[in-house]
Amino acid sequence: MKTQLCALVALLLLFVTTGQAQQPAPLITNLEGRQTIDLNGPWQTIVDPYETGYYDYRYLPSPNGYFKNTKPKSPSDLVEYDFDTSPQLNVPGDWNSQDQKLLLYEGTIWYKKSFDYHKNEQSRLFVYFGAANYLADVYLNGQKLGQHEGGFTPFNFEITPLVREKDNFLIVKVDNKRRRDAVPTLNTDWWNYGGLTRDVSLVEVPNTFIQDYFLQLKKGSMDEIAGWVKLSGARAGKSISIEIPEANAKQVVTTDASGYAPVSFKAKLNLWSPGNPKLYQVKLTSGSDAVNDRIGFRSIDTRGTDILLNGKPIFLRGISIHEESPLRAGRAFSEDDARQLLTWAKELGCNFVRLAHYPHNEHMTRLADEMGVMVWSEIPVYWTILWDNPETFANARNQLAENITRDKNKASIILWSVANETPVGEARLKFLKGLIDHARMMDSTRLLTAANERHYADATTQMIDDPLGEYLDVLGCNEYVGWYDGVPEKADGLTWKVAQNKPLIISEFGADALFGNHGDKAARFTEEYQKDLYEHQIAMLRKIPTLRGMSPWILTDFRSPRRPLPRIQEFYNRKGLISNRGARKQAFYVLQNFYRELEKEGK
Ligand code: GCU
Repeated sequence: MKTQLCALVALLLLFVTTGQAQQPAPLITNLEGRQTIDLNGPWQTIVDPYETGYYDYRYLPSPNGYFKNTKPKSPSDLVEYDFDTSPQLNVPGDWNSQDQKLLLYEGTIWYKKSFDYHKNEQSRLFVYFGAANYLADVYLNGQKLGQHEGGFTPFNFEITPLVREKDNFLIVKVDNKRRRDAVPTLNTDWWNYGGLTRDVSLVEVPNTFIQDYFLQLKKGSMDEIAGWVKLSGARAGKSISIEIPEANAKQVVTTDASGYAPVSFKAKLNLWSPGNPKLYQVKLTSGSDAVNDRIGFRSIDTRGTDILLNGKPIFLRGISIHEESPLRAGRAFSEDDARQLLTWAKELGCNFVRLAHYPHNEHMTRLADEMGVMVWSEIPVYWTILWDNPETFANARNQLAENITRDKNKASIILWSVANETPVGEARLKFLKGLIDHARMMDSTRLLTAANERHYADATTQMIDDPLGEYLDVLGCNEYVGWYDGVPEKADGLTWKVAQNKPLIISEFGADALFGNHGDKAARFTEEYQKDLYEHQIAMLRKIPTLRGMSPWILTDFRSPRRPLPRIQEFYNRKGLISNRGARKQAFYVLQNFYRELEKEGK
């Protein structure tokens, strides 16, 4: 009791004295396995392009910013903002697709949500954000909780000392301005959707609770579950029970001084795979806290140029996907959005998806677990990041850590990707090796990859020899032979050389086609051109001996600020096999047939 009181006092003091932006609290794993109250729905918002709600006219942070939610106390009182009469935006949701005026808006929008809350005496309360793009400053009842950077990973703050019975006001300053030193950096080929893009929830937990856990098969084992459990608010000697009733397996472990306990026990398991996406009910209890999860157990490994799932070689029949709602042209955030995208991928014949270029929402990875779809999960280290900047590295590493923390118990996730199309160079290699080491430290069970580039060794020889490949388990390569590089037939005469004796995934290839735009197959942007490109690509890729998977670019057309071509692109990247209205293009069936053939070949 005494220690928790000290912790709470320390927390309160920190809030009151520093006001400094502090980091979120350690991430709580598996919110879905807990009782929560969501704060979703309409939020009051103030669009603030000049950040008047944060800085004074000297551009110094103002102590009386919009986070104070000040109300005039008398008619002569001067207050030049009022959340409660301001427009609303829905949460979860990006602001760009909710209001045409905000389609291209990049800057700050303030969000306010009021709520009453009766908290039990002996418990703690956290506010959890699924994601906020890009920089979020969070306040409760006028007090700064902290700041989070990164638009695609979850974060939470403890609000125990600050919450009150009535009229709490939670205020979030969300800024999606692009910065050179950020992750991603200034240019991306996807829409910079801003806002509270995923669920916001309140979660009440006992003073000592199960904050985080990692339960997967030990590397190389088919029957030993290994991992750990971490309690928050606990000291040594606390017992935690981990139970898998259906497998008749259970272990009780005891915490060390930091509330941490390693886990290791044998169990006879029905292993997870696309053909058998078996998930087990897992119960964790400690003191008065309990959390339930549904976890699949499978082993993933490489042997030479093979990828082994549960010890057997597999071929990854994949497709790349952006986190965009298929038919609403906004950030996807719901279970329905995820189910629609994964259902289309399965219709294509996929057993694998590349979630590009950033961590997608948790509905996506949970459904991949349920639907038996293997996942490539990536952080937005995209194109040319500031490799020499230590803050940029710390930011990228933090996004990686948050991604792994959220999804490390998901059987569907087989690959962590640390980068996409980044330029070969010393600083970049050091940066990415640092991320790879961090990922391996956090998770020794999964494979590391990155989407790298290729170059010509001579006129007809493609070379994959990125030095980063030395540090990866699986090589990823994006190639646009026939689109940015020549015309589709060019693929016919090419051979591929791969420097590292490792499994290869062609993580991108493709061509733009506007659905319904028909013409000669040599005419770009026609369905015939895209179809022809897929046919030549498939013939070429079939000949690469170490090819163990592919994720063509891309399942559906998606918004991109880099694609202005009138009447064709209209700010959409049209490389989808499905249009942004859900229509299948001719190339969709070319790939579907190919995947059917592979399935017949047992691949
Ligand atoms: C790149 C990149 C994608 C982009 C695609 C394209 O390879 O990784 O983000 O959308 O090419 O140009 O269509």
